[in-house]
Amino acid sequence: MSKKNKESVNPVAPAEAASVPDAGTKIKVKKPDSPEKSAARRNFMKTSAAAGIGACALGTPLCAAVQMILSPVFAEKVSGKFYPLTTVDALTEHPVKFSISDQKKDAWATLPDQKIGSLFLRKSGDKITALHALCPHAGCMIQTGIRTNPQTKEQEEMFYCPCHAAHFDLDGKRLDGVSPRDMDSLEVNVENNHVLVKFENFTFGTAAK
Ligand code: FES
Repeated sequence: MSKKNKESVNPVAPAEAASVPDAGTKIKVKKPDSPEKSAARRNFMKTSAAAGIGACALGTPLCAAVQMILSPVFAEKVSGKFYPLTTVDALTEHPVKFSISDQKKDAWATLPDQKIGSLFLRKSGDKITALHALCPHAGCMIQTGIRTNPQTKEQEEMFYCPCHAAHFDLDGKRLDGVSPRDMDSLEVNVENNHVLVKFENFTFGTAAK
């Protein structure tokens, strides 16, 4: 739907009525400053202007540095948005990795179509599982691999983190290693055979998400 531009009208303040003194009113005439006083005032104005310009020049990198340090505070939170990724029919028991793209904000600009994260999707029976691809331990990228099941001695697919050798089963459950929790699951919605995943980031290194 096209948006009709509203004409913006800035009310203009009526000109102030000229103040005309009554005939009997005494008019106070201000004495001009002495040359010394005028020179002192000019020097003060120059010094103030120079100080202001200097503060601005220093302030730009300073502000940028502070923003960089506090960037997690200011960064756009990646949460609460569902992304359509594939169809139900396209999924199998083998996990498939998907990348999520969206606009991203850095210190200076908003960049369109940037990779903001990735996740694994798989289907087991009717159940669709979405798992964040970053390791909950310290945020390394999790990969898929094959391991020998210690009980059955059979080869099976699993997830592993190459950074500190954490292993997870295909449901994201911890098998071994230093990760403080299972892989982070993400909310899944199915609409008209399309799979949508709510992508969000979580804290690393804690038992709770
Ligand atoms: S970052 Fe994955 S195990 Fe340490």
